[in-house]
Amino acid sequence: MTLRTLDSLGPLEGKRVIVRCDLNVPLRDGVITDDGRVRASLPTLNALLNAGARVVVTSHLGRPDGAPDPQYSLAPVAQRLSELLGKPVAFARDTVGESAHDAVDSLEDGGIVVLENLRFNAGETAKDDAVRGAFAAQLAELGDVLVSDGFGVVHRKQASVYDLAQLLPSAAGLLIATELDVLDKLTENPERPYAVVLGGSKVSDKLGVISHLLPRVDRILVGGGMLFTFLKAQGYEVASSLLEEDQLETVRGYIAEAAERGVELVLPTDVVVAEKFAADAAHEVVAADAIESTSFGASGIGLDIGPETAARFADVVRSSKTVFWNGPMGVFEFAAFAGGTKAVAQALTEVDGLSVVGGGDSAAAVRQLGFADDRFGHISTGGGASLEFLEGKRLPGLEVLGWA
Ligand code: 3PG
Repeated sequence: MTLRTLDSLGPLEGKRVIVRCDLNVPLRDGVITDDGRVRASLPTLNALLNAGARVVVTSHLGRPDGAPDPQYSLAPVAQRLSELLGKPVAFARDTVGESAHDAVDSLEDGGIVVLENLRFNAGETAKDDAVRGAFAAQLAELGDVLVSDGFGVVHRKQASVYDLAQLLPSAAGLLIATELDVLDKLTENPERPYAVVLGGSKVSDKLGVISHLLPRVDRILVGGGMLFTFLKAQGYEVASSLLEEDQLETVRGYIAEAAERGVELVLPTDVVVAEKFAADAAHEVVAADAIESTSFGASGIGLDIGPETAARFADVVRSSKTVFWNGPMGVFEFAAFAGGTKAVAQALTEVDGLSVVGGGDSAAAVRQLGFADDRFGHISTGGGASLEFLEGKRLPGLEVLGWA
């Protein structure tokens, strides 16, 4: 089966169209630090508004605990969306309550409202199918059709992504279609050598990815938070750096399997160790097998790959024909620990082939470090979603739209 696209929904003039976007943007003190996901949602939203639809935008932001939490409000996102669309965007203070119903009832053809964070409702992420289904039914009251366009969340079996798509006529939006076009190129006969660079802080989310990638790629480079579990698995001490003790055996297995399969597993040979987690923390560069030898001893924290590693990673990236990168190499938000991420980003812009940056954090990193989007083959809005796609997993939010 192929993905159902917008055309399959017929004329949309005057219809209430719920659009499930992924507007999960990074915020600092209530200010959006990277609006890439909002911009990526514009083609679909503009197409629907131009068709005279009444557009009801839904999204999650962060991981609130199933109850309202002001720090995760979508209000700043609605405002940014209004600036980017160049037209008023209404905002509902709840998701399925009175405010949402009033705002949707007040919509005119070609009008748009953003509903408050879906995850302020426990039903959105509930594991229990009935609880999720009940919340989806409440959402369904607010629309005639669903356009699913939050590529970053298609790997989640959540009410607005999965259950709602079965309650209303549903189709994929333009962002999902674009993402799949590019990511398909990474799974169907990628030009080789094919390298995947993994980093970031969602360590336990990503370790499992490696076992699925080992049979598919030629090179895996490991930086970011998970590198310390690899160093420890090699028998090195990592002081107070991020460590997943319970994953050490698994990681040893990956190292052995990579060797058996002839996959080049490129691990750091040096790291930047800081006295504490802070932008202005004292720091030293040290060999990967001597992390506790800095003046901070066992309390030092590794916050970036070292310069020797950054240069090696950049060489490996540049000499590959297909590269997928997910996750910053260090704490790039602090200038002193952005060197590794910058070196990898720069190398990606020099790839003679297809380079793809995946994930909210990596996309934010390249923009924050001053790289223009068009210097990369593609910047995916999906982090976990793009990784799971590359792993060949079945994604609930795509399957429900006819993708097989
Ligand atoms: C992401 O940032 O990867 C998506 O928005 C999904 O968010 P989640 O990992 O909290 O489900």
